[in-house]
Amino acid sequence: MARLAGKTALITGAARGIGRAFAERYTQEGARVAIGDLNLAGAEQAAAAIGGGAIAVPLDVTRQESIDAAVREVETRLGGIDILINNAALFDLAPIADITRESFDRLFAVNVAGTLFTLQAVARSMIARGTGGKIINMASQAGRRGEPLVAVYCATKAAVISLTQSAGLNLIAHGINVNAIAPGVVDGEHWDGVDALFARYENRPLGEKKRLVAESVPFGRMGTAQDLTGMAVFLASDEADYIVAQTYNVDGGNWMS
Ligand SMILES: NC(=O)c1ccc[n+]([C@@H]2O[C@H](COP(=O)([O-])OP(=O)(O)OC[C@H]3O[C@@H](n4cnc5c(N)ncnc54)[C@H](O)[C@@H]3O)[C@@H](O)[C@H]2O)c1
Repeated sequence: MARLAGKTALITGAARGIGRAFAERYTQEGARVAIGDLNLAGAEQAAAAIGGGAIAVPLDVTRQESIDAAVREVETRLGGIDILINNAALFDLAPIADITRESFDRLFAVNVAGTLFTLQAVARSMIARGTGGKIINMASQAGRRGEPLVAVYCATKAAVISLTQSAGLNLIAHGINVNAIAPGVVDGEHWDGVDALFARYENRPLGEKKRLVAESVPFGRMGTAQDLTGMAVFLASDEADYIVAQTYNVDGGNWMS
């Protein structure tokens, strides 16, 4: 199958985890993929392992000059960008009484401003080319409902869902489809970190939170990064041309909306 043949994709935060799985699957589907990440060594390693012409580009989504430089570099090395996945994000956990401004500012800078201004830079490039495109934002089930210890991350992901709606409605006039994926709980290095934070704040042994969340998923287990790749390919393909400003849950049945 090559459902993305001839397309160029920029995937942010793809040095590891879900973004890396997207980069691998997109390459298998015929796309030329740029892995943009703060962790350049990790991005280079991922690109080399994936092969198929995947490249690594340095990217810090909190810095405008870095976003602009990454977009220019992808255009120069791979050609105009047809697909963007806004995947880079940070997580943190604290009861309301312990939330710090530093944590709030850091999460909003990456998850919300990073998503908006990377989307803006790529949308400007797509508008200038006049060829339209596909933009996929990574939301979360955390954006659908607050959680007692996860106020800031939940708020950032609710903002991503809202930005997806506004940008989707604005940019479809240019043939740019903006949609989002809301994963549930996806096993990997990210969730190892989440589990360790819950262990500290809920006084649990390491691994227990993971076991509990896995048991509560209607499908019967945590998700894997690979579970999300089908939706990411579909939303980037021509088959999704009529889908505008939506957020899709891919979460084993955790959330219905
Ligand atoms: N893992 C889950 O259970 C889960 C659930 C719901 C939503 N999500 C969302 O899916 C996406 C991917 O999650 P993941 O589990 O693969 O995360 P992850 O922590 O494994 O990977 C995040 C990547 O983003 C990069 N990054 C961080 N800050 C950056 C910056 N300023 N600029 C560029 N890159 C930066 C990191 O280096 C890392 O490679 C995120 O948006 C996350 O919020 C994940």
